[in-house]
Amino acid sequence: GLPSRVRIHEVGPRDGLQNEQATVPVEVKSEFIHRLREAGLETIEATSFVHPKWVPQLADAEELMPLLGDLPQDLRLPVLVPNARGLDRAFAHGCRHIAVFASATESFARANLNRSLDESLAMFEPVAARAKAEGLWVRGYVSMCFGDPWEGAVPPAQVAGVCRALLDMGCDELSLGDTIGVATPGHVAALLGELATAEVPAARTAVHFHDTYGQALSNTLTALQHGVTTVDASAGGLGGCPYAKSATGNLATEDLVWMLQGLGIETGVDLARLTATSGWMADRLGRPSPSRTVRALTGA
Ligand code: HMG
Ligand code: MG
Repeated sequence: GLPSRVRIHEVGPRDGLQNEQATVPVEVKSEFIHRLREAGLETIEATSFVHPKWVPQLADAEELMPLLGDLPQDLRLPVLVPNARGLDRAFAHGCRHIAVFASATESFARANLNRSLDESLAMFEPVAARAKAEGLWVRGYVSMCFGDPWEGAVPPAQVAGVCRALLDMGCDELSLGDTIGVATPGHVAALLGELATAEVPAARTAVHFHDTYGQALSNTLTALQHGVTTVDASAGGLGGCPYAKSATGNLATEDLVWMLQGLGIETGVDLARLTATSGWMADRLGRPSPSRTVRALTGA
């Protein structure tokens, strides 16, 4: 069966904007996040406390966080944190929700984190431990869960091993990333089956699809049929990942909401407000939104 409610983990301000050519002024980022909140999103990934040279688009994290201080306390504003230095920066801004970001593959761990897979897990372990000790909520991303640009198809058992490690270090939630968008529904079902066998519960697992091959919604529906109830999406379909070749097009939040509304699944999102926000952001970026739903609803 399908869930009656889905929690959308909005990644536009972080995963979306980190991959845009144009660097958006910090005031625009703040307005974007405020507008997403007004559109009903309850979890909005705000920025990253990574090395500014690695992701220059998010180098203004220190300027952004104070601009979000007026947002209600019940809004989750997760930030990406790779290491102790990142966690110190997140603490300094009172962040209550963080995400570490692992890879299912050796190649992407090296490209994204300058570490082997094991070294990167060893880097996250004390971060998660300290964050949990301080009462923070911790998400663990796993990138390249389906395919990897250097290694090809990724065996589900390999993904399960990384998921297990992240849960064992205290992550509250996992997010299974199809970073290059190559997943298809059969592969999604196979991976979720493997994870169930490895005692990685679907109830603690989010899915993070990219629409590179137009499969993101089919993949999402398959995940919902297998017990997943949290779905990552990016307003207007912004972004991808700068350290992965061909990682374009996160699933657009509007496309997701359109499908879920049709299924009678609650999200709390006001589609008209969200679409207006993505239209506004498209104007700021000087390019149209790639979301079919945004285009259909705005006649763009
Ligand atoms: P490194 O060069 O190995 O770092 O990078 P290091 O530990 O050797 O330190 C080198 C210098 O960086 C030091 O400064 C540190 O202080 C500084 P120095 O002493 O030389 O002056 N430094 C920092 N500065 C600010 N904030 C920090 C920080 N850490 C060290 N947190 C590192 C290792 C992890 C830092 C680097 O590789 C990095 O920042 N990587 C992040 C890359 C990134 O953000 N990628 C995009 C994430 S998206 C993703 O993963 C996929 C996802 O979206 C899901 C999907 O779509 O599938 C989640
Ligand atoms: Mg992404």
